[in-house]
Amino acid sequence: MSHPKPLPFDEATIRKIAETFPTPFYLYDEVGIRETCRKLYQAFEWSHNFQNFFAVKATPNPHIMLIAKEEGLGGDCSSKAELMLCDKVGIRGENIVFTSNNTPADEYQAAKDIGAILNLDDITHIDYVDQTVGLPELVSFRFNPGPARTGNVIIGNPSEAKYGFTEAQLFEGYRVLKERGVKRFGLHTMVASNELDGSFFVETARMLFDLAVRLQNEVGVRIEFVNLGGGIGIPYRPEESPVDLMAVGEQIHALYDEMIVPANLDPLRVVLENGRMITGPHGYLITKCLHHKQIYRNYVGVDASMANLMRPGMYGAYHHITVLGKENAPHDTTVDVVGSLCENNDKFAINRQLPQVDRDDLLVIHDAGAHGHSMGFQYNGKLRSAELLLQANGNVTQIRRAETYDDLFATLDFTPFK
Ligand SMILES: Cc1ncc(COP(=O)(O)O)c(C=O)c1O
Repeated sequence: MSHPKPLPFDEATIRKIAETFPTPFYLYDEVGIRETCRKLYQAFEWSHNFQNFFAVKATPNPHIMLIAKEEGLGGDCSSKAELMLCDKVGIRGENIVFTSNNTPADEYQAAKDIGAILNLDDITHIDYVDQTVGLPELVSFRFNPGPARTGNVIIGNPSEAKYGFTEAQLFEGYRVLKERGVKRFGLHTMVASNELDGSFFVETARMLFDLAVRLQNEVGVRIEFVNLGGGIGIPYRPEESPVDLMAVGEQIHALYDEMIVPANLDPLRVVLENGRMITGPHGYLITKCLHHKQIYRNYVGVDASMANLMRPGMYGAYHHITVLGKENAPHDTTVDVVGSLCENNDKFAINRQLPQVDRDDLLVIHDAGAHGHSMGFQYNGKLRSAELLLQANGNVTQIRRAETYDDLFATLDFTPFK
């Protein structure tokens, strides 16, 4: 039998919700999100003006972003649309870091207009920004350590990744910024994604602290913040453990005392831009069993598809599944849990041990709260589902309605066919 994963709701609650909001739908747990934000901030309490810029791409819903804002988080935006969402929620100015790549001028303009920190992805963008929208007072660069670090399956190895400056470009880039009158400087990197080994982030801090010291000595720029990026992983599998945030915070604190304080760089802000660890564990995709099929394998067909959650199909990612009401039943059938897309990788689980799943059983797909709904798409004419919020007071509110066929066809011109 597979290990259980705790849920903040029971079958009766979900059946009741499903009477109003038909499956499939996403459900987010406000209490869980707030608790996770607080744990992260506690781990960096020692740090001057610590902030996590919530990676908006993870869960671009203003109601979720407002919860993050209330917990003190800023916004990490990669596009104009994400900047617009931040603006709606009142996340503005240096509470936003604009970490984009291959960026068009109008998006830089939008970032500048809202007062975001511009985090440039490439050395050529110094000229590009200067010549299009003008360099702001504060600029940050994204560093790509190349062969010096290894990444992982989601983000790839840094030396094969399209992001960031090489080390030589970084030194040259800050020199150019200084010559052009930029006054304030930040340094960023994002090396791993969904990383469960806390020491990885400590090593990233060491790498950026070392660069900050060398940049001061060799180029004469004082870095005012290092942004260690996002990428803190979550235990998708029940047997995995979350990153020990307190230990990571303490180890980075020790490095700070060892490297930053003696170099007279204190206070240096340490910031992060995690999305997944904030909302991932607190979002669930709820779907219903429609069919069984027994051919060379056994299949459970559900009413959600890869269009609702593409991580399993795209990365082969594991998402735990609970069959509501059968948590304690023997997990004695081996099935693939599939959607209805005309793609054979439209599978939420492959060869998974589950209890006997019957038609109309409700299945909970865990850890879908980040890079879940937001990666949704409409291939095969699939409609993106609703998003619901289980509030701290126990109420459930709809924070995004499900798409309709009118939404799907809204951009088509049917006039010749009427
Ligand atoms: C630049 C950047 N920052 C932050 C994130 C957020 O990563 P995660 O949600 O895994 O923390 C991403 C994810 O794609 C990213 O590309």
